[in-house]
Amino acid sequence: MQNFIISGGKRLEGSVSIHGAKNSVLPVIAATVLLNGKSVLHNCPDLSDVGAALGIIEFLGLTYKKTGSDIEIVSECPTCHRIPDELMRSMRSSVMFLGAIIARCESAVISLPGGCNLGPRPIDIHIAALSRLGVKVKKHRDNLEFTAQGGLKGADIHLKFPSVGATENAVMAAVLARGTTRIFGAAKEPEIKDLADFLNKAGAKISGAGTGIIVINGVDSLGGAEHTVIPDRIEAATYMAAAAVTGGGIEITNVVPEHLKAVLGAFIKCGCVISEEENSLLISAPNRLLPIDKTVTGVYPAFPTDAGPLLISALASANGTSLFYERIFKNRYGFVEEITKLGADISVSGARATVRGVNNLRGANVRCTDLRGGAALVVAALGATGTTTVSNLCHIKRGYEKIADNLRRLGADIIET
Ligand code: UD1
Repeated sequence: MQNFIISGGKRLEGSVSIHGAKNSVLPVIAATVLLNGKSVLHNCPDLSDVGAALGIIEFLGLTYKKTGSDIEIVSECPTCHRIPDELMRSMRSSVMFLGAIIARCESAVISLPGGCNLGPRPIDIHIAALSRLGVKVKKHRDNLEFTAQGGLKGADIHLKFPSVGATENAVMAAVLARGTTRIFGAAKEPEIKDLADFLNKAGAKISGAGTGIIVINGVDSLGGAEHTVIPDRIEAATYMAAAAVTGGGIEITNVVPEHLKAVLGAFIKCGCVISEEENSLLISAPNRLLPIDKTVTGVYPAFPTDAGPLLISALASANGTSLFYERIFKNRYGFVEEITKLGADISVSGARATVRGVNNLRGANVRCTDLRGGAALVVAALGATGTTTVSNLCHIKRGYEKIADNLRRLGADIIET
């Protein structure tokens, strides 16, 4: 499927169920490299990134079976410590396999993770954390070679920034290290806690995940585990934005509202009425959204960078001007040029986007530039008058399962060609 054709202006109504979180299932799959035995993962989304992660574990000698949203993985010691170039490039987050491979093989070779359209993605914090556990790194022309002769040794790690990926890599490396590791300045995202919950079920001794200090007492080996992946808070934010731009009212089920506090707060400021249950929420939008004077992205529990493009898309037709500051990724605004083709009036200066709400957006041909930027274009098209063609859908397929089917069930006019 190459394009979405969307005829906008249809009010969304009904109920949508959220899939498992991409940013949880990927590190959990990487963590199976640490285990011996069979694991069963429930609530796994069907995404191209998940396919890429499964390709990597298969290459490393593990086996898996996928049945609906369940993935069964049989782990034994990896037969290989190298992730080849094409697999590294098939998924930008493949660097998250690093800690697990080193922990099992005492060495790992990966190609340099390429820059992507959110800007450069350095791995210096990952490397600094692993070095504290005894890992040495050698840079070759095309790859990085990591070694930990004699195995990893627990240590205190102070992260200079609470990187999600670096925290996950450090946790995965530390679970099989000798002695105790303490990670200070750890990322607190719910996906970190989900990873720790999975590893603890497999026999790891991790405490404090979800706080700024994670303590890991190394164990000799881990077994298999059964685990249900947490719901995807960014997928939920996407349907909230879709309801918001269409003046709709929808129920979102299989979600943890607690994980979405900052996002819910933003949509409430826009004039939406939201009610929360333990695992679902209702959002009802006014005919026209209100602007928000200032939204700033930050590390959890602040407003998530991944939801930024979605909120901006909603604010593009709000009744006034909103200011948005992106503080995590430099090049998050790639989609802005595309959304202006729909008539949005947004100017970007460094981290700040000034979103001047227009009366209404108009259909046009637009192209996805990245995953969340692509979803933001779909949201904008749902609220626009006329027909929009959204192309380059490979980005959206990395992070959304059945988005067109779900939107159609909510009353949107969207087809895939
Ligand atoms: C993860 C998520 C991604 C989300 C992001 C922020 C996964 C697979 N990906 O990405 O969807 O958008 O968190 O919530 O879970 N940085 C460094 N050096 C490093 C590592 C990171 O400078 O070694 C910088 C990055 O360039 C970026 C910031 O730190 O500016 C945040 O990165 P990080 O939290 O590591 O995000 P990811 O783990 O890449």
